[in-house]
Amino acid sequence: MWRKPVCTVIRRSRGFKDIWGSCAVHPCSTEALPASRITARQAADLWKRHFEANRVTEPDLSSYYIIAHVLGAKTIERVEPERLSEFLTQEETEKIWTLCKRRLCRMPVQYVIEEWDFRDLTLKMKPPVFIPRPETEELVELVVRDLQRKNDGRRGSLTCLEVGCGSGAISLSLLKSIPQLTAVALDQSLDAVELTKENASRLGVQDRLKVYHADVTKDADTVLKVCSNVSAFVSNPPYLFSDDLSSLEPEIWRFEDHAALDGGKDGMKVIQKILTLAPHILADDGRVYLEVEPRHPGPLRQWAEANVERLDLVATHHDINNRPRFCILQKGKSNDHKLDPG
Ligand SMILES: C[S@@+](CC[C@H](N)C(=O)[O-])C[C@H]1O[C@@H](n2cnc3c(N)ncnc32)[C@H](O)[C@@H]1O
Repeated sequence: MWRKPVCTVIRRSRGFKDIWGSCAVHPCSTEALPASRITARQAADLWKRHFEANRVTEPDLSSYYIIAHVLGAKTIERVEPERLSEFLTQEETEKIWTLCKRRLCRMPVQYVIEEWDFRDLTLKMKPPVFIPRPETEELVELVVRDLQRKNDGRRGSLTCLEVGCGSGAISLSLLKSIPQLTAVALDQSLDAVELTKENASRLGVQDRLKVYHADVTKDADTVLKVCSNVSAFVSNPPYLFSDDLSSLEPEIWRFEDHAALDGGKDGMKVIQKILTLAPHILADDGRVYLEVEPRHPGPLRQWAEANVERLDLVATHHDINNRPRFCILQKGKSNDHKLDPG
C-alpha cells in the first residue's frame, strides 16, 4: 500500500515555497520516558501533541508513522485496534521515544523509520540521500507509458540512463515495471550510489542495473563510455535556484544533501549538462525525461534550441496541481531544421 506523504517538503501547491516549504527552526527538547506504562494509542496521542507544541510539520502523521513502524506495520490503520489499546513493552516504549525525539529535531520521518514507499516499492532511506517526492512518481509514469508503447510488438531490450539516482527510486521503479529494461544509474554522491545498489539488491533487480559514482558536469567522458543508444535518459536533477535554498524547511535544509537540491543560479546547471549530453547518448528515437521547476520549461526550450542540435522539446506535462513540471525532449533525425530560418 502506498503511504501518504509526511512533512511539507512534499506538499503540492503553487510556487517555490509551496513546493519545498518554508518555516522557522525550533530547538529540540528532550522528552523523558513516561513514568508508567502506556498504550500505543496513548503514545500516539502524546507525541502528536508534543509535535504540535513544537511546531513540527504534520504532527499527527509523524506520530502515527513512527508508532506503526515500531509495531511492525506501515500505517496506523494497519495495526490491529486491540494492539493499539494494549500496553507497550518497555523496549517498544524506548524505541518510540528514541525515534520520536529524532522527529522532534526535525529529522524527516522517512529517515527516522529508514524506509519509504515510492510507487509500489519500499525503499531503504538513509540521510543525506534525497527522499523521493510523490511528484516524481508522475515522471516515472510518463516514462513507463512511453517505454511500454515502444516495446509493443518489438523484440530486444530497452535501455535507460538516469542521472542523479539518489535512493534509486526512478531506475528501480522503471526496472520493476518493465522486465525487458536494463538501466545505468549514476550519482555524484557515494552515499546515493551505495543506497541505490542496496535497494536494487533488496528488490532483486541488481542484474539489470549498473550504478556509477560520477558527476555529470565533470565526468562527461565516463558517462559517454558507460552508456550509449539509450531509449530513455531520465533525471530528477537538482533544480532549485540557489537563492531559494535558504528558505527551505529545516527537514530539508538540515538533513538532505544540498547537492541534490541546488541547481545553481537559475536552477539549470545540471539540466544543461544533461541536454548537452543527450544527443550523444540517446538512440535515434530516444527521449529525455526531466522533472523541473515550474519556471523552467520556457527557458529550457530556448536554451536547448540555441545550444543543442538534434534535440527538441516535444511535450511539457503538468503535475496534479497543474504546474508545468515534466519536460520531454526527443532526439531528432537530423539538425536540418535548426538551419531553417522559417
Ligand atoms: C533531486 S535528487 C533526485 C534523486 C532521485 N532520482 C529521486 O528522484 O528521488 C538529485 C540527485 O542528483 C544527484 N546529483 C546532483 N548533481 C549531480 C551531478 N552533477 N552529477 C550526478 N549526480 C548529481 C544528487 O546527488 C541527488 O542524488
